[in-house]
Amino acid sequence: RSIERITVVGTGSWGTALAAMLSREHEVTLLCRSKEEAEKLSTTRRNERFLPSIVLPEQLYITADPEIATSQCPLVIMVVPSVAMRENIRLLSPYLSENHIVLSAAKGFEPCTELRMTQVLQAELPGIDPKNIGALSGPNIALEVAEGKPTTSVVAFPDEQVAMRVINALTTKTFRIYGSRDVVGVEIAGALKNVIAIGAGAIDGLAAGNNAKAAFVTRGIAEISRFGIVQGANPLTFAGLAGIGDLIVTITSKYSRNRWVGQEFAKGRKLADILSELHPQVAEGVETTRTAWKMAQELAVDMPIIEQTYKVMFEGKPVHEALIDLMNREPKF
Ligand code: 13P
Repeated sequence: RSIERITVVGTGSWGTALAAMLSREHEVTLLCRSKEEAEKLSTTRRNERFLPSIVLPEQLYITADPEIATSQCPLVIMVVPSVAMRENIRLLSPYLSENHIVLSAAKGFEPCTELRMTQVLQAELPGIDPKNIGALSGPNIALEVAEGKPTTSVVAFPDEQVAMRVINALTTKTFRIYGSRDVVGVEIAGALKNVIAIGAGAIDGLAAGNNAKAAFVTRGIAEISRFGIVQGANPLTFAGLAGIGDLIVTITSKYSRNRWVGQEFAKGRKLADILSELHPQVAEGVETTRTAWKMAQELAVDMPIIEQTYKVMFEGKPVHEALIDLMNREPKF
């Protein structure tokens, strides 16, 4: 059965971009947090706060009513910050039936529980078969997607047939999607690349050079792979679009929030100061650094880049000292 309607939950830059792009070729509903917001977006056809340059297509249906948004829409895409995934799915769960497919487009973990987003969704949606819960991740800078620039992404579900239905529902002339059964790997890749992007931004900020940046990103992927493999991920996932692909775009794009955070650290600024300037935007890599470093120690995975990024971010270590410490570790074979 083909999926006729899609609901996008979340009006940050990624949710708005995804909804705008998909609505040019599919029937899409965008679910807002409040009536006021829904009214504002519907009448102005713009999201001034998060994606001001994009006109929202007339055919994009905008509402704050979760019942309307889910009743005729078998596919629900959750595009909210990772910290807010649980509260958002709790609001929606009374309206979801066993026939719904739920796709997470958030790149992060739940702080405290260290759960991946599909695990949070599974916990909150006991009536939905876990094979209908999946993740979307890839090199997807929101503005480029909204502008209709050619973009690829990965959709991961435990079940290939479900993945194919979702791929068919989301494909457009400018949005090409690859399927994967490696939900764990795709989610870990999407979350952890943000930490590496923060570090790469700091290297840019220090003007430490392209050799340093290439090394950092390559060794970063090595760390992410180690971290994923011990949790059951397929190593090849990290060489694909959700891994190295997303890392490449995030460390090069001038629009990346995570890369920007790293650049600001290199100026000697403090975390609270950087985050207040970024607000209301969110750089997921900040919380992910905290969670990933904790998990790395629990899982006994060697992650020196994550460790140094953590020390810069949360212990006030100067960026150039972190770089010196990375360079002067014991030789590796
Ligand atoms: P930022 O969150 O750093 O803006 O990166 C967006 C992204 O995930 C690109 O795929």
